Amino acid sequence: MIQTKPYTALAEIYDCVMRGVPYKKWARYIVNLIRRFCPDAKRIFEIACGTGTLLSILKKYGFIVDAMDSSIAMISKAREKLKGEDVRFFIADMSNFKVDEKYDVALCLYDSVNYLDSIEKFDGLFKSVESLLYDHGVFIFDISTEYNSIQNSALMNLSGECFGIKYTRRSYYLRDEGVHINEFEIELNGEKYFERHTQKIYKISEIKDAIGSNGLFEVVGCFDGFSFLEGSERSERVHFILKKRNN
Ligand SMILES: C[S@@+](CC[C@H](N)C(=O)[O-])C[C@H]1O[C@@H](n2cnc3c(N)ncnc32)[C@H](O)[C@@H]1O
Repeated sequence: MIQTKPYTALAEIYDCVMRGVPYKKWARYIVNLIRRFCPDAKRIFEIACGTGTLLSILKKYGFIVDAMDSSIAMISKAREKLKGEDVRFFIADMSNFKVDEKYDVALCLYDSVNYLDSIEKFDGLFKSVESLLYDHGVFIFDISTEYNSIQNSALMNLSGECFGIKYTRRSYYLRDEGVHINEFEIELNGEKYFERHTQKIYKISEIKDAIGSNGLFEVVGCFDGFSFLEGSERSERVHFILKKRNN
């Protein structure tokens, strides 16, 4: 078995494994958040864009989009998906990156920030995002909660075949360590690949404290799932909407 970095072999089958993810609904929700919190927004920068599915939908809404991800394999799938479109892609780590353009909205979705393995790393993310936003800009990101890990891990244990590629996914929550693990075995080109994905599970209060002590943003929304109701530790997913403080 060949051990690879997260989102290497998985990139080959990501869109098929995630075919149940309601990207169109998610995009509609994000557009509603943008209309409410940054109504004149035109330019979006997506952090951890993966294979670019959300990006391609947001482009259809008429937004100008650019994006980044740390995985070369995922970015290459995103480039294929948005071939012929005017989109710039970057490969970088979300906890420390710089882009020489300004945007109205920064996004980081589908529990991508859970890949930051310590709360201190949010500081670097906030600094990086602050410098790419206009003064009126907003940063929208989501977290997957402990409640989600406890309720739904078992549902994510599955084996299947995608584009003729066999795979197995094992998903479990290590409560004492506060980390959610997803392990993938993927049979690709006659080899078996293994990827272990570790996501840190944060409490809403920890995220709010990190935003407060960083000082660059204020929280203007903290919503349950795909709603405008207040998020709580009983939410499976929480979307945060941050505005620049411009001190
Ligand atoms: C669950 S996927 C979500 C992808 C995409 N946002 C979507 O909705 O399908 C998480 C993504 O985060 C990216 N990622 C993980 N850690 C990262 C980091 N430190 N910096 C940038 N991207 C990262 C992975 O490469 C992967 O594409």
